[in-house]
Amino acid sequence: MLPALMSSRITMVKKQLLSGEPCAKCAQAEQVLRERGYWERIDRIVWAKEGDPNSEGMRLGKEYGVELAPFFIVEQASGSPQVYTSTIKFMKDTFAPASTAQSGAPTGPSDQAAAGEQLAERFESAEPETVVRYALERFGARCAISFSGAEDVVLIDIAAKTGLPFSVFSLDTGRLHAETYRFLDKVRSHYGIEIQIVSPDAAQLEPFVRKKGLFSFYEDGHKECCGIRKVAPLRRVLTGFDAWITGQRKDQSVTRADLPVAQDDPAFQGANGKLLKFNPLSNWSSAKTWEYIRKNDVPYNALHDTGFVSIGCEPCTRAIRPAEHERAGRWWWELETQRECGLHVK
Ligand code: ADX
Ligand code: SF4
Repeated sequence: MLPALMSSRITMVKKQLLSGEPCAKCAQAEQVLRERGYWERIDRIVWAKEGDPNSEGMRLGKEYGVELAPFFIVEQASGSPQVYTSTIKFMKDTFAPASTAQSGAPTGPSDQAAAGEQLAERFESAEPETVVRYALERFGARCAISFSGAEDVVLIDIAAKTGLPFSVFSLDTGRLHAETYRFLDKVRSHYGIEIQIVSPDAAQLEPFVRKKGLFSFYEDGHKECCGIRKVAPLRRVLTGFDAWITGQRKDQSVTRADLPVAQDDPAFQGANGKLLKFNPLSNWSSAKTWEYIRKNDVPYNALHDTGFVSIGCEPCTRAIRPAEHERAGRWWWELETQRECGLHVK
């Protein structure tokens, strides 16, 4: 961790495209730095010009073995320079008060005790940015984004732009598509974040598979398999947090029609017993989600380009036809009212 010393010199290397424009990621990083009030702290901007290996930025990239842009070089009066390819990590390490960034302690809104029902009312028609910021100011890294799909990366993007600490986990059922694993890793490197990948308990999973094989859900429903591969690991990981954020939306399913923006979790417990659950995209549509993804260059699962909309495990997800509802490809052999895996209990 680097303290934000006055004696440090900060260089930002940006990429200039052949068109003369900065690359989209560099422009986005500048915007985040300006929004957070850190832009004035950058001492110099150096350009890595596309097609010009002798430009100063290209030379610095070569010197520090960096092929991504933007990147940041923080030079202290003594010691070797620190290089960052993640804007978020750069901001956290260089500018955030050490205690906040290290411990994940919240910077704190005034009401540290508001319960789910109060928050649901207060944030009923709030923008997702407002809800996410509230959750992170109150809980910091003790609040986790539960990540698997497109909506969740929108939330990660919003969280990253606040510059506040937060956590991310993903439940690896062992049955995800290869594309999904690639996507998880892409998100990890794009935002420079840690993702806690949570596996099922082998002591539960192995006897189940030995007894019933790998596809019992087609015979007697998905509850048992989801219980072992998703719900039990979720119960375990949530005991490490005080709040979690999901990407659920009301219009995804009949089972989510009255989904509040915030709630006391009705099914799981957090580190201190209580657990707050935030659903900041509750009032968003799929179209709005995708508008955000395109506008902000948010990474998404390659399966979306081949007809998949709502994506879960490989054997339990299929692409849908244009007129079908987005969750028609999930557990399609079961009743619509049964298509919840137990992560989200009403
Ligand atoms: S599910 O219950 O039917 O599987 P869905 O795919 O709609 O859920 O996702 C709703 C939200 O649940 C996601 O936005 C995410 O927050 C959480 N979620 C679903 N699957 C996972 C997973 N494998 N890991 C972490 N979170 C998940
Ligand atoms: Fe098992 Fe299918 Fe549930 Fe995945 S979605 S945990 S494979 S039943």
